[in-house]
Amino acid sequence: MEFFRGYIFFFIAVIADTVWRSQSFNVGTAGAKIFSGPAAEEFGYTVQQTTNHEGKWLLVGAPWSGFSRNRKGDVYKCPVSGSKNSCDKLNLQDSLSIPDVKNVNVNMSLGLTLTRMPTATQPGLMMCGPLWGQQCGNQDFYPGICAKLNPLFQPQAAFSPAVQSKISVLRYFETSLLIFLLLAAWKLENKYKYIQKMFRGVTSLLFKRLLL
Ligand SMILES: *[C@@H]1O[C@H](CO)[C@@H](O)[C@H](O)[C@H]1NC(C)=O
Repeated sequence: MEFFRGYIFFFIAVIADTVWRSQSFNVGTAGAKIFSGPAAEEFGYTVQQTTNHEGKWLLVGAPWSGFSRNRKGDVYKCPVSGSKNSCDKLNLQDSLSIPDVKNVNVNMSLGLTLTRMPTATQPGLMMCGPLWGQQCGNQDFYPGICAKLNPLFQPQAAFSPAVQSKISVLRYFETSLLIFLLLAAWKLENKYKYIQKMFRGVTSLLFKRLLL
């Protein structure tokens, strides 16, 4: 019994010591500022600190802004300096588009990525909507969209590194198929008129699609 009592005492001492050491604490609670935003928008999914000539800011991503109809996403700016403790929406949801492509600005989740660019001058921030899409023919691709923010948090020209060019992969396959069919039709000459007719039908269809 003595033996066990010793063990139990030792065990309790170890646990108490661990609990004592793992007590959490906060730094600088006196002047703390709490920024809150709509949880349905996933406000706070991304956060970046930055400064401009107006002071210190916290940029907060809300990638589901527009939920539930259309989760375009947005970014908020929250002033760290001063007494104001509410955030302002930057309203970026309709300001990003890529010229000369059919933009699919639906559920694109702007602010899901909010990052600081190490080489750039302050604030050097970039935000992305990874689910931005592009319509190519009757297909949708989702290469995502990004834009740098200037010191006033206005988006610069948007870009999409993986955007599909006019000759997309699909078009490439269609072109190859077209060439193959033309060669096949030419080889068949007049032997099988009905097959040739069918080929002509398909090739003219493909031609029309390629010229669209
Ligand atoms: C966008 O997301 C909503 C749900 O939030 C969904 O109901 C809707 O169908 C989506 N739109 C598209 C085009 O995917």
